[in-house]
Amino acid sequence: MKGQAVSEVIHDENSNGEAHGEDPSRRDFIYIATGAVAAAGAAGIGWMAIHQMGPAADTLAVGSIEIDLSKVDEGQQLKVLWRGKPVFVRHRTPKEIAAAEAVDVATLRDPQTDDERLRPNMDNKLDPKYLVMVGVCTHFGCIPVGEAGEYDGWYCPCHASHYDTSGRIRKGPAPKNLEVPEYAYLNPTRIKVG
Ligand code: FES
Repeated sequence: MKGQAVSEVIHDENSNGEAHGEDPSRRDFIYIATGAVAAAGAAGIGWMAIHQMGPAADTLAVGSIEIDLSKVDEGQQLKVLWRGKPVFVRHRTPKEIAAAEAVDVATLRDPQTDDERLRPNMDNKLDPKYLVMVGVCTHFGCIPVGEAGEYDGWYCPCHASHYDTSGRIRKGPAPKNLEVPEYAYLNPTRIKVG
């Protein structure tokens, strides 16, 4: 990764033991999360601890997390755990936004405009700075690496899928764009996922 990744849990009602088995995506997640701990220090360690002490699986379907966007500086990505999956919150640079908006949607495997991948803020406007996605490759579930790949978005090292700066699949075997989870703004700098 060219930039710094940070990892922090703001609030997580969903962590559970389901992802602790032999799922290969889980192994990748541990690997990448370990790298994030090195960058984030105590915050990352707290994230791992909370993940391992999560509640039972019956909370899985109803849980939600709140994320403070003000903690994510331009050019950085926050990674949190939600319903046993990583969620990426990317504060995109103007260059990343321009690249995402310039794409001819008709050429995409999973056609979506950049705007269609955003959610309205408190003013009922789209703020292209913040991109929120489930960080799970739509091929076989590995965890993509940020600021990587041929489109400077995300790259899945398992079978070489390249996603652009909007998280849309551009090259490789993955069939779909990275999923945008259900989320909404609670105030100008805080969102609730789930
Ligand atoms: S799991 Fe990502 S490319 Fe196969």
